[in-house]
Amino acid sequence: MCGIVGYTGKSPCGGFLYEGLKRLEYRGYDSAGAAFCTTEGIFCQKKRGKVQNVRSFCLRRRETTGIAHTRWATHGKPNDLNAHPHVFGHFALVHNGIVENAEALRSQLLTPCRSETDSEVLLHTIAACYEGDLLQAVRNALTQCSGSWAIAVISDYHPEEIVCARRQSPLVVGKGKNGIFVASDVYALHGLCEQIFLPPEDSLVRLRRPAAEREEAERIEGIAGDTGVTGGAGIAGVEAFDMQLSPLPVLPQAMPPMPPIQSIGHRTHMEAEIEEIPRAVSDTARSLAQANLPDLPKVQAVFATGCGTAFHACVAFRYRMQRYGKPIIAEQAGELRSGCVRFPKNSLLVAVTQSGETADTLAAIRLAKSQNVQTLVITNVRHSSAAREADFALFTEAGTETAVAATKSFNCQLMALYFLAAKCVGRPVPDFTDLPSLCEAAVEADVTQAVKKLYKKRGMFCLGQNADYAIAREGALKIKEICYLFSEGYPAAELKHGSLSLIESGFPVLAIVTQKSALKKMKNTLREAKSRGATTLVLSQYREALAEADVPVLLPMAEEDLMPILAVIPLQKIAVELCLKKKLSPDYPRNLAKSVTVE
Ligand code: M6R
Repeated sequence: MCGIVGYTGKSPCGGFLYEGLKRLEYRGYDSAGAAFCTTEGIFCQKKRGKVQNVRSFCLRRRETTGIAHTRWATHGKPNDLNAHPHVFGHFALVHNGIVENAEALRSQLLTPCRSETDSEVLLHTIAACYEGDLLQAVRNALTQCSGSWAIAVISDYHPEEIVCARRQSPLVVGKGKNGIFVASDVYALHGLCEQIFLPPEDSLVRLRRPAAEREEAERIEGIAGDTGVTGGAGIAGVEAFDMQLSPLPVLPQAMPPMPPIQSIGHRTHMEAEIEEIPRAVSDTARSLAQANLPDLPKVQAVFATGCGTAFHACVAFRYRMQRYGKPIIAEQAGELRSGCVRFPKNSLLVAVTQSGETADTLAAIRLAKSQNVQTLVITNVRHSSAAREADFALFTEAGTETAVAATKSFNCQLMALYFLAAKCVGRPVPDFTDLPSLCEAAVEADVTQAVKKLYKKRGMFCLGQNADYAIAREGALKIKEICYLFSEGYPAAELKHGSLSLIESGFPVLAIVTQKSALKKMKNTLREAKSRGATTLVLSQYREALAEADVPVLLPMAEEDLMPILAVIPLQKIAVELCLKKKLSPDYPRNLAKSVTVE
C-alpha cells in the first residue's frame, strides 16, 4: 500500500513528483505529501486527503531532489501529522510497509516522535545512526528493525542523493535523461525514464545526481543483504550487487491516472472498466492460447489461493476442479500462509492476483516455494513481483484496472482458471469465441429496478450454489466495498441453518441461478425466504428461476460453463449504480486501496 516517488537530478522535480503521486494514488489516498531538499534545509508539505491537496506546493518548488508519498494508513489515523514524508532534523523519509518492532524502538528514542507512525520511529533511528554517511545510517538503522519496508530518505547534509531500501515491499529505480527516479511502482515512472532497475530483496540503493565539480553522470550504487532473512540481521552482511538496468516495460494503454473521466465518456473509472469487459475477455483468450504450462495432469494436489476478488475466482475454480474429479483446496492467501500448511508431494500452488503485489498472496507463493512446491500465478501485471517469483504464469489481459473495486480482472481470472482446470485434467480447453459478444449483452442488462429496491436497505444476502456461490460472494463484496451496505455471499442451502432468522419484511435476498442442476434447490430457498417476507431479486437466464423474483434480471443465454463469467457483470453494475445513487465514490471507497502490499 502507499505510493512512493522520488527524484534527484538536474531539473526542478516538483512536477515529476506530483505526476508520480497522481499515478500512484490508486495505492492509497488517505493523505499525501512531498519533501524537497537543498543545503539550506528540507521543505515539506503534507496533508490529509487526496494528492490534489499538495499540488500547488509541489508545482511551486524549484529544488532538484525530493521525495513524495501517498498514504494508506496502517499506524495512526489518516491526518496531516501522520502523513508522509516525516521530517526530523536534517532528514526526511517516506515509507511503505510496517516496522514491527517500532514500539520497542520508540522507547529508546531521545526525542519523542510527533506522529503515531512506525515510520517516524524509523526516521529518528536513522538520524541517531548518522555519522556522516546517509547510506550507512540507513543501513545501521535497518539492522535494528524487523518488518517490511520500501523507504526513500533524503538529508540536507547530502542534497544530491536519495537512499532507498526495500524488504518485502516493491521498489523500482529508473534512469531518465535528466536524473534518477525511485518509485514503488513502475507506473509512476512511465514517460519519465527509459531504463529501470529492480533492487533485489533486502537491499539498499544510493541514488546520486552528479555534483558538477565532482562527477559527470548520475550514480546508482547498491548493496544487498541476505535475501529472505527476517529480522534485522539481513542487512548486516552486505555485498555489492550487479546493477543491471533494463528497458522500461511497455505498459498497457491506460495507466493510472487514467484520462479525466469526462474524456472517456463515463461518470467513473469503474463504469468504464465494466464496459471494457468484452475487450478484456477477447484479449485474455488470445493470451491464454499462447500459455506455456508444465505437465499439469501429473500434479496430484492443487492449492488455489488469492485475496478478495481473486479468492472468489479460486472458489469458482474449486467447483470446476471438483467436477473434474481433481483434488483441490482453495484458501484465502492470508489464511494459507499462516496455517502451517504442509504441501503434499507433487502439489501445485495456483496464486491468483490482479496486481501481482498483494503481500499475503506473495507470502503464500514464497511458502510454497520454500517447500519445493511448483507455483503458477495468474496475474494481470506482467512485470509484477508475483510474475517474477512464480515458476509459471498465465497472464490476463484486462488492461490497467484503476478503480479500487475489481471488475474486468475478475472475469479474466475466471477464464484463466477454467482454462487451467481443463489443462489440469487433460480436457479440451473452453471455447471463448462467443464470450466477448455475450459479455456485451450482459453489460446491457437492466439493473434499474434492482438498484431501486436496494437503495436505503441496511443489509442483504447474495445466494448461489456451487460456481454461482462464488459469484454471489463476489457480488456481495462489490456491494459492501463501494456501497457500504452489509451484504453476505452465502451458499443457498446454508440459509436455513441459522441465517434465515435475519429475514424480515422487505429484507433483500438476491439469488444467482445459472446452473440447471441448481434450479429446484434455488426455487425452494427463494420460496422459504419469500414466505418470511424477503424481497427477492434473481439473476438468471432461466424463466423458471426469474418467475420467483420480485425483481428479475435476465442474463444472456450461453453455455452453462461460461455463465459465471457473465453473471457477475450485472452484479458489478448493480454495485456501481447503487453507489452513485447513494452519492458515494466507486473509484475511491473509504479505507481501501487498490493494491494491498502490507500484511
Ligand atoms: O491485486 P489482487 O488481485 O491480489 O488484490 C486482491 C484483493 O485485494 C482485491 O481483489 C480486492 O478484494 C478488491 N478491491 C475487491 O474489489
